[in-house]
Amino acid sequence: MQTISAYSAIINEAISALTFPAGSLEGLYSPITYALECGGKRLRPVLCLMACEAFSGSCERAVDVALGVEMFHNFTLLHDDVMDNSLMRRGRPSVMAEYGVNAAILSGDTMLTLATQLTMKVDDKHLRRVMDAFNRTAIEVYEGQQLDVDFEQRDDVTIPEYLDMIRLKTSVLLGYSALAGAIVGGATTADADALYKFAEELGIAFQIKDDLLDVYGSADFGKPIGGDILNNKKTYLLLSALHSDFRQQTLEALQLTEAQQKIAAVTAIYDKAGIRETAQRAIEQHSQLAIRALDSISFSEPGARQAFADLCENLINRSK
Ligand code: IPE
Ligand code: IPE
Ligand code: MG
Ligand code: MG
Ligand code: MG
Repeated sequence: MQTISAYSAIINEAISALTFPAGSLEGLYSPITYALECGGKRLRPVLCLMACEAFSGSCERAVDVALGVEMFHNFTLLHDDVMDNSLMRRGRPSVMAEYGVNAAILSGDTMLTLATQLTMKVDDKHLRRVMDAFNRTAIEVYEGQQLDVDFEQRDDVTIPEYLDMIRLKTSVLLGYSALAGAIVGGATTADADALYKFAEELGIAFQIKDDLLDVYGSADFGKPIGGDILNNKKTYLLLSALHSDFRQQTLEALQLTEAQQKIAAVTAIYDKAGIRETAQRAIEQHSQLAIRALDSISFSEPGARQAFADLCENLINRSK
């Protein structure tokens, strides 16, 4: 197994090698380059390459599938920033803020198709299985995004409903990344499915951590602090407050119309109610479940189990 930074270097190099038509269609392609070049953790393609190598597959055979999932992920971010009215991403203007809503929509659409094309470069013998998983996952992500938006209007969302929503909007793409890598690497169906479960559970911890950083993150996070509060997003934090003795106070704070006041009031309730700690415990619990899911897998590479556990550890302790 290679280090996480070595896998992400492989992806960054492959991204740099992508070329797009110049000239009159710059309006379509510049936002794509802008979105891809400005970093990001490369978590999904890293998972994909790790999964491939864990079953002794050669990394090169999974690079296009890995690029495909990173392209898909970035497509979802372009549209997500429109849906969430987010002006900042990865420490700079989002595509919507930099190029406008139309660019975020159409360059996003193009990225979705590019993602499909990249994924279809997989070896013929894996093509149907990988594409079926890719398409199923894509629909699930859209379902999750719809639930996320629907929940903005509700104050009776339960934690199980929330967990299902984040499983769809976030976890299944991590699951797919691991599954597709495992398939290309030659894993048995049982092992590939078990690795999917690992990544799915990791995705739950990952999204709760994203919710936490949206309130308690530093400038490192690269997204504006308090965005979820302003949007009435039913995050793990907000739901924990709504299901605590502070429900009424929370509902009142959510009515505030001045942005900074609203963020400060909701954050003050989180502080009083110990919500940060509640979220931290949930993150650790789901991360433990993820690591336990690795137990049943017969990896071919000796360091694989530890490498996935380390990835888990890194993600739950991240600042961005
Ligand atoms: C952002 O994903 C969207 C979520 C599912 C929270 P990442 O946090 O992986 O975004 P980048 O690619 O590293 O910027
Ligand atoms: C992101 O959820 C899920 C997808 C993009 C599919 P968020 O809305 O929490 O992601 P960020 O915080 O904007 O990155
Ligand atoms: Mg969103
Ligand atoms: Mg968002
Ligand atoms: Mg978020």
